[in-house]
Amino acid sequence: MRIDVLTLFPEMFHGVFQSSILKKAQEKQIVDYHLTNFRDYSTNKHQNVDDYPYGGGAGMVLTPQPIFDAVDAVKKETRSTKPRIILMCPQGETYTQQKAEQLSKEEHLIFICGHYEGYDERIREHLVTDEISIGDYVLTGGELAAMVVIDSVTRLLKDALGNEESAPCDSFSSGLLEYPQYTRPANFHDMKVPDVLLSGNHQKIEEWRKKASLKRTYERRPDLLENYPLTEEEKEWVKKLKKNRGNLAYPDKI
Ligand code: ADE
Repeated sequence: MRIDVLTLFPEMFHGVFQSSILKKAQEKQIVDYHLTNFRDYSTNKHQNVDDYPYGGGAGMVLTPQPIFDAVDAVKKETRSTKPRIILMCPQGETYTQQKAEQLSKEEHLIFICGHYEGYDERIREHLVTDEISIGDYVLTGGELAAMVVIDSVTRLLKDALGNEESAPCDSFSSGLLEYPQYTRPANFHDMKVPDVLLSGNHQKIEEWRKKASLKRTYERRPDLLENYPLTEEEKEWVKKLKKNRGNLAYPDKI
């Protein structure tokens, strides 16, 4: 996959692209990140990229010219015919794991990160394919949001994660939150690991994990259960959880 980022602050990405899984993914040539400062494409003699809004009002608006030209240059360089062109903004669709999975199947993503009050509407209408928000709060710019999306997409690319870090049982990719995990020691300051996890009985462990996962989802994100295809057995368990207001202690009492 090729990922281009158009930003006025390319240096913000250096630490993220040069650390951990993203760095390794690049070294393994699974992904290729490119940073472009779209100010370089401004034809304005002062290299301005923003201007006052027509109709008046507070704040500045990013002008279309540098952004359209920077996207054109990237498309020409890559000979990419149908890249996804993603505008980071609080008005976009709220980002989800499903969207990460969809984007991870593309060959080329171009992210546009804005600052100031907003983007000229023609960028939205005639250039971008997607508008993404990472949540209902306002950041100073789209860079941190783009990093979130790029991180979550990169880790889904084939071979980006080693076995130890594998993706399929993550929270959200299954539609449920992840079950609780423990490691050594089995008893830490009298806080004990649930017996079932030490039992070596894999069927019982799987059952415990499924129920623990359902319980955690019920307690923290009941909205996720509405779209989750529960088996009859799982429905019974959720019913019990509801009756006990989530108060069933796992593992022994399930
Ligand atoms: N730019 C500013 N705030 C944002 C948000 N919440 N998501 C995406 N881009 C943004």
